[in-house]
Amino acid sequence: MTTADWIRIVHPAIAVAFVYPLIGIVVHYALQTRQRRLQLAEAKAHNAEGGSGTAPKKPKLPPTVGAEHVQIGRWLTGAVVGVSLVGLAYPITKALIQSQAWSQDRFKVFFVLAMFGLTIATLACLYRAQGQLQRIAFTTLPSAGLIILGLQDGVFRRTNEWFISHYYYGIVASVLMITSLAILPEIYRSLTWRRIHIALNCLALLLFVGQGITGARDLFEIGLYMPPP
Ligand code: HEM
Ligand code: HEM
Repeated sequence: MTTADWIRIVHPAIAVAFVYPLIGIVVHYALQTRQRRLQLAEAKAHNAEGGSGTAPKKPKLPPTVGAEHVQIGRWLTGAVVGVSLVGLAYPITKALIQSQAWSQDRFKVFFVLAMFGLTIATLACLYRAQGQLQRIAFTTLPSAGLIILGLQDGVFRRTNEWFISHYYYGIVASVLMITSLAILPEIYRSLTWRRIHIALNCLALLLFVGQGITGARDLFEIGLYMPPP
């Protein structure tokens, strides 16, 4: 293993050690949140009918499950976007060094640095965004930042096989996490948004499984394409 190899595995290591455990916790609380909401509805219906002479029913799960899901969910959004940025940073930096961009095309270096900075800053703004307009703006900006970074030289996009591409899965999953954070107030307000949230995040969950498979494959493939020492 060369130093470059060790730097390359920083991204998968962060994903495995920090992001996937967070996904597990978020999904655990998501199931409990749903279960509790259904238990509450069932209890309400039962109690409204007069409880058939029995004591009033209460949901078995504690009311904190929703708050726990959201708290860890907020962390998950930052973690997924962060891990994507680390995944993009390695191939982009490598391509910039190989093309001697600092002496040949210095604007490109500043542009890439500005894009990383703007993506992080605008996502931070989304955490503090107040009105709907601010939430729309700070959803679009970090998502655009990720896409623009993904278009830089060096990123292995596998566009001819987009349906099994680690890059496309990663960008879509990151944008879905940003969207979950953006629509947070709407999820509480309406059942339709709650259903949209569930549908989008079931897709995100499949993409996360896909990331595990395509990421492990890409590590292997990069190893195969490496020139012998
Ligand atoms: C893998 C990712 C995720 C999955 C699979 C998921 C799934 C779910 C499910 C099943 C529910 C319960 C819906 C119901 O009541 O029937 C829920 C609720 C909710 N989720 Fe997520 N979610 C994910 C990530 C996130 C993220 C990243 C956020 C925001 C930062 C978020 C915010 C919320 C909110 C605000 C609720 C309502 C909580 C409540 O009723 O107390 N979720 N989610
Ligand atoms: C939350 C899960 C993950 C997300 C969102 C994610 C996202 C990304 C993104 C956006 C890139 C840059 C585009 C590309 O080169 O494909 C990337 C690169 C990469 N990822 Fe992941 N990834 C995740 C998990 C993993 C895992 C679990 C592994 C390995 C076991 C992995 C291995 C790689 C490799 C080898 C690269 C290529 C780096 C290079 O070009 O040198 N990723 N990832």
